Amino acid sequence: MSSSQPVVDPGPQPDTTAGGPVNAAGARSGPPSPDHRYLLDNARVEAGERFTWLAELFDGVTRGHFDRMGVGAGWRCWEVGAGGPSIPEALARAVGPTGHVLATDINPAWLDPHGAYEVLRHDVVGDPPPQPGTFDLVHARLVLVHVPDRARALATMVAALRPGGWLLVEDADTELQPLACLDEVGPAQRRANRLRRAVRELMTRRGADLRFGRTLPRALRAAGLVDVTAAGCFPVGGVACDRLEAATVRMVRAELLAAGLADDVEIDAHLAAVDAGELDLTLAPLISAWGRRPG
Ligand SMILES: C[S@@+](CC[C@H](N)C(=O)[O-])C[C@H]1O[C@@H](n2cnc3c(N)ncnc32)[C@H](O)[C@@H]1O
Repeated sequence: MSSSQPVVDPGPQPDTTAGGPVNAAGARSGPPSPDHRYLLDNARVEAGERFTWLAELFDGVTRGHFDRMGVGAGWRCWEVGAGGPSIPEALARAVGPTGHVLATDINPAWLDPHGAYEVLRHDVVGDPPPQPGTFDLVHARLVLVHVPDRARALATMVAALRPGGWLLVEDADTELQPLACLDEVGPAQRRANRLRRAVRELMTRRGADLRFGRTLPRALRAAGLVDVTAAGCFPVGGVACDRLEAATVRMVRAELLAAGLADDVEIDAHLAAVDAGELDLTLAPLISAWGRRPG
């Protein structure tokens, strides 16, 4: 895990952004507006743990794609929604001192401001592309599924590419494989699958598109890219899946309770079963799609 620490965890905050305007008496008026804040906020201490296990599960896949694209000395790379430091560090090693790596995030607290890459707070939906038309590679993993305006985010990333530059987007397709336990042999596995459905419900309420992964090849072509190709994979069981699950459930526990989607007894029993390593937990498939900006 990164040695950097996030800003102090404020815990779940009252939602002041959803539910319509507030009048002078503090009562809401008008129809509620959807709440599209990022659910797995980097300000939470569990976020760093999640980045460690996401790296363990998926960095090998991602680095394989970098190798196939030929990422190497002198390349200019933009890592979008970087989260933790592992991919910016891998890119910085690959491009060497003649290259450049920019790592951005709406909350870059887990990135190393003194690392071998540049760190910038940047919203891929709301902010213009940094250094437009200059990058050999733009990469985003498990980011677009969470953002409200995915087409705009894609357009921003494409605008940052030099002609001939590569965009690699990787996102989960949770609807394709929605289970936490593929082998639903007993009550612990059924509970795990029920809680996974509850977490997916929370994500949907925050505007996540749980079928986004499968749309990536089409979305990349629609964004004007050529030579578009895609592949998918998911891990089945193992310590990294267990630790990621525990961190995620602890992170959204208060939201699950507040939404009435789970209770304390159920969550505690699930976390104990995860700790016991008896569930063979799995994840949604990660779909990776890549294409080039026309030269
Ligand atoms: C699930 S994490 C994935 C982190 C990392 N890419 C990985 O695969 O391990 C999603 C990341 O996207 C960031 N993010 C969410 N919305 C964003 C936005 N609009 N602009 C930039 N980053 C965003 C979050 O802060 C978080 O770090």
